[in-house]
Amino acid sequence: MAKTPLPMKPTGWFQVAWSAEIGAGEVVRMKYFGTEMIAWRSTSGQVTVMDAYCEHLGAHLGYGGTVDGEILRCPFHGWEWNMQGRNVCIPYEKQPNKGRRIRTYPVTEHSESVFIWHDVDRRAPYFDVTDALSGFDDGHSGADYYPAYGYSTLFETGLEIHPQYVMENGVDFAHFKYVHNTPLIPEFTRHDFDQPVSYVDFTIAFDDVPADEVNSGVQAINSGVGVAATKSWGMIDNRTLTAVTPIDESTSDVRFTVWIGRHPGDGCAEPPPRARKHAQGVIEQFQNDIHIWKHQRYSDPPALSRSEFEGFTALRKWANQFYPADVESKAATAVR
Ligand code: FES
Ligand SMILES: [Fe+2]
Repeated sequence: MAKTPLPMKPTGWFQVAWSAEIGAGEVVRMKYFGTEMIAWRSTSGQVTVMDAYCEHLGAHLGYGGTVDGEILRCPFHGWEWNMQGRNVCIPYEKQPNKGRRIRTYPVTEHSESVFIWHDVDRRAPYFDVTDALSGFDDGHSGADYYPAYGYSTLFETGLEIHPQYVMENGVDFAHFKYVHNTPLIPEFTRHDFDQPVSYVDFTIAFDDVPADEVNSGVQAINSGVGVAATKSWGMIDNRTLTAVTPIDESTSDVRFTVWIGRHPGDGCAEPPPRARKHAQGVIEQFQNDIHIWKHQRYSDPPALSRSEFEGFTALRKWANQFYPADVESKAATAVR
């Protein structure tokens, strides 16, 4: 185990739950970026993620806080807080406390997932988190896939890894053969790291076919360092979402979601056995990656081979933009 030297408070979108884990009227406790937080879903269905402590006398709202319509009521003295973290009622006073506010985080919900925007400077979101099902501009949407939550998701908590390790897979052509047992090394056809949302495409085959006959591949869209969506083509239609969310200065939660394409006309609520089996295979491949990441020591500067240099350099430069300037770390020195 090796604590990462990379900053554990990056800017961007991070998955904090699957949508189904926060039912209407429920309050869920969580800790991310070294901060105790809660997520609650109002009666109308909107999720709020906020710091956990009541601004009155500091009760933890995740222990007995209750949702009432569109507000959250503190269990200690009944003060009511809205979705913006504003106090809207002190039950034994005529006026609420208009000055105090509980910190809330921008939330977006799609891909069966709840994401928060985290930024130590509290800037508003300046990019979007791409929808894994409808975000590849190919006309597909959630209706084309079997649901994933409860069937084909993986959650690993408290791993000593940094989100950037996962992103580096997207330029690491050589690991596919050794970690994923592909017969050939993939061919990268796109590396676009110009914007906070970056793109990586490559051709890959899991079956033994001649190199010039490979007719399948993967496209990846990285929404900052926290969330990556992939689309497969030329093989069984699947989409994945990989999310790494820092808990504290050394550990992260990892969530992985796999959707399998529906058979045309199949309106089943559950994925059939063949879809589950395929999803399980994709999860097993991802577990092979996790096994490396969770024991890895971040190498800086790494001993890159000639053909690895360009991709890793571009990836690390791109990742560095998400790290707060005051803790700018060795990530920058690696690419100088
Ligand atoms: S501590 Fe929350 S209402 Fe008093
Ligand atoms: Fe991998």
